[in-house]
Amino acid sequence: MTVLVTGGAGYIGSHTARALRNAGYDIVILDSLEFGSKDAVLGAPLVVGDIADFDLVADTCRKYSVTSCVHFAAYKSVGESMEKPARYIRNNVAGTASLAEALTASDVDKIVFSSSCSVYGTPAVVPVTESAPINPESVYADTKAMAEKVLGWFDKTHGMKSVSLRYFNAAGASMDAAIGEDWTVTLNLIPIVMKALLGKRGPLEVFGTDYPTPDGTAIRDYIHVEDLAAAHVKAIEYLHKGGPTTAINAGTGTGSSVLEVLKATERITGQAVPHTFGPRRAGDPSATFADPTNCERVLGWKATHGLDAIIESAYRWHSTSS
Ligand code: WQD
Repeated sequence: MTVLVTGGAGYIGSHTARALRNAGYDIVILDSLEFGSKDAVLGAPLVVGDIADFDLVADTCRKYSVTSCVHFAAYKSVGESMEKPARYIRNNVAGTASLAEALTASDVDKIVFSSSCSVYGTPAVVPVTESAPINPESVYADTKAMAEKVLGWFDKTHGMKSVSLRYFNAAGASMDAAIGEDWTVTLNLIPIVMKALLGKRGPLEVFGTDYPTPDGTAIRDYIHVEDLAAAHVKAIEYLHKGGPTTAINAGTGTGSSVLEVLKATERITGQAVPHTFGPRRAGDPSATFADPTNCERVLGWKATHGLDAIIESAYRWHSTSS
């Protein structure tokens, strides 16, 4: 019952790898270490290489008796994807097809896929259910939608069952501050808030104050990374019990505005977050948050942490890591 975790040295991957081990699974991590960190694997078996390397994936499956896979390895910068579409399509879509080919050739027929709420684009209705139209607005988002389709075809052609978890805004760090987000590479709100607070960058710029939301700033569904990791463990259990291919929202169901994140951070840390107000960022939806009903019904999972735990854990992690 070994789980192959691609991208297991990355942010969400390393938290999930840890959660799988804590749940009693043997794991092996496959990571190119292009962005992942060796420290984040916490001593788990690590194979350094590419998901598109058929022989490497097949050898790893044989050597470790792999029975299922959780697939994170992908590029994730929305902005870069618009400048270098082929780089994203090659790695995220063709890479997923290569991985699926090597897995099915190795009799591995269960995969949990790291998808994204960005497949919905700007949702017409919130909370967003899984039946909302798929309408990606960036190359990155479309690579996730395309990879979901690739996996759908591998079910029809090879019987490989998949759960695509469509993450909302993953944030926070492990509660014991052992692992967290590499804030040197991320452009997401909560690490930027932490950096601004700790004086490791200039002030946070709040992107947009004229959204049709109660305080005028944009609303997102921030989900604690350990909650998200637990959802993957549930998805693996679901597949091992014979569950059919599906796509599931992974969010909390609660939206928080940029100003709410800022105020919660100031309340929790007792420090001011230096900030300025700027225009909207192109392509940002005004409000998006999940309807998590399906996740609870199908996987028996729901988020246990709220915004405060996200901020507390991020603060602990960012205050202690370089
Ligand atoms: C959050 C909010 C910004 C930075 C990303 C991915 C998306 C996805 C979820 C994974 C927005 C505002 C941010 C700053 C700000 N899922 N903000 N100042 O864009 O919601 O989504 O994570 O694949 O694909 O793009 O996350 O953290 O960048 O922004 O005001 O300096 O914070 O405008 O409202 P986003 P984010």
